[in-house]
Amino acid sequence: MESQTAKTIGGYFQLTLEQGKEYYPDLIKLNTSRNALEYVLIIRGYTKVYLPYYTCEVMLEPIVRLNIQYQFYSINKELEPIFDFEIGPTECLLYTNYFGLKQDTVKWLRENVDNLIIDNAQAFFSKPLPGIDTFYSCRKFFGVPDGAYLQIDTDERLVLEKDSSANRVGHLTSSIDHGIEHSYADFLENEAKLKDNDIKSMSYLTQALLCNVNYKESKNKRIENFKFLNDNLFLANELAVDFPDEVPAMVYPLLVSKKGIKAKLIEKKIFVPTFWPNVLKWTTDDMYEYKLTKRTVYLPVDQRYGLDDMAYMVDVLKKII
Ligand SMILES: Cc1ncc(COP(=O)(O)O)c(C=O)c1O
Repeated sequence: MESQTAKTIGGYFQLTLEQGKEYYPDLIKLNTSRNALEYVLIIRGYTKVYLPYYTCEVMLEPIVRLNIQYQFYSINKELEPIFDFEIGPTECLLYTNYFGLKQDTVKWLRENVDNLIIDNAQAFFSKPLPGIDTFYSCRKFFGVPDGAYLQIDTDERLVLEKDSSANRVGHLTSSIDHGIEHSYADFLENEAKLKDNDIKSMSYLTQALLCNVNYKESKNKRIENFKFLNDNLFLANELAVDFPDEVPAMVYPLLVSKKGIKAKLIEKKIFVPTFWPNVLKWTTDDMYEYKLTKRTVYLPVDQRYGLDDMAYMVDVLKKII
């Protein structure tokens, strides 16, 4: 890895990290994935973006900043686009590889849609398809403050300043001493700092942290944990998605009609996110995206947990669903 300053000898020790390898060493390294979208939009010069209702509102940041037209589209129960619109020659389709479960849909879109952009923020381990503009957001999968990778199939590059993450890592370190709950406010504060930032290249700190990750272990744990949850919960799961075998997903999505599940999980200190609160503002309660947002419980399957933890979650869930 590059060093941030001229080499010095002696002095105090920096944080000691493994000098391993990134998972995507050859992709463009950026500060956030919303800015990776901006990078693509600038280089491609698209005039309009079709994006799903079911996505995170920060994806609008670059579109609004560049003053590009946009239109939301709906997804079906397999979480695939419903094509009731036509994409013009200077327009593009942004598709989210939901939870890392939709690589087959990405492959289908590649064959059938021109001007495709794949948002793999939730699909770190899904490799980019040749020729398809694809981006990743590292902190959805690992303990890093920011960072994104981008594949774009052109030689044109933007000249970028380097970002610095030193003022955004507090929650990652203080939670080791004091626990996740104690540092939650710091986490929110650091997330807010990522809003409306310029496109910059990935900081040295984030890159160093990404060189420290055991990707093989993370991938295997996710596959194993996801499989365990699905084996035990598929009968209760109302989500009509055909899950791939052996998938290193971001989370296990469990759709249940019964209300109040998240609150009951929190009582047991099982914290689950909402993807995405903004969808409730963008849609009406008769839309599938609204139901998905309200009723899906996203269970963690990541490298922090083993099968004992999965069994505990299943046990808790079986009593409340
Ligand atoms: C699907 C999806 N894409 C992109 C993003 C934005 O990622 P970043 O914070 O790296 O810009 C998010 C949420 O933050 C997301 O949920």
